[in-house]
Amino acid sequence: MVKDIVIYPDKRLKQVSKEVTEFNEELHELLEDMYDTMVSKKGVGLAAIQIGVPKRVLIINLPEDDSKDEEIKKEDTLEVINPIFIEKNGSWKNQEGCLSIPGFYEDIERAKHVIVEYQDRYGNKHTINTDEFLAVALQHENDHLDGKVFIEKLSILKRKKFEKEWKKKHK
Ligand code: CO
Repeated sequence: MVKDIVIYPDKRLKQVSKEVTEFNEELHELLEDMYDTMVSKKGVGLAAIQIGVPKRVLIINLPEDDSKDEEIKKEDTLEVINPIFIEKNGSWKNQEGCLSIPGFYEDIERAKHVIVEYQDRYGNKHTINTDEFLAVALQHENDHLDGKVFIEKLSILKRKKFEKEWKKKHK
């Protein structure tokens, strides 16, 4: 079911999400709701707190490099539960946006390469070793689980400009 997205500066976005301990029907329903919501808003990633659920759950569905059609395939969705970054290195700049901060995009520098341990919807453990787009998407979504949004990475000047424009737009 499509849920409402929590929009900046809602305080829930500052909440630190809790570890998932039960890999049950409720979790699977949450993952379905997250997928439906992400697709309906044309996002490429979503953290559970963005639909108001403070659990360490994120999903990512990046468009394939070589495919020209925009069609999103559900089976391509990466479901990441309780992620732990065990390695982060290099640096890579890429334009980011966020469904909780609609209409705002900015270049953000993050680690280029990451190794992340996580669990799937059944509680099975996996390790992902990746770089560039997927690596920064994992970092962006994982920040949500720690109560952080990408605009916190802006320079003071750019942040001030953003806040001013955001307030004007969302009065
Ligand atoms: Co986001």
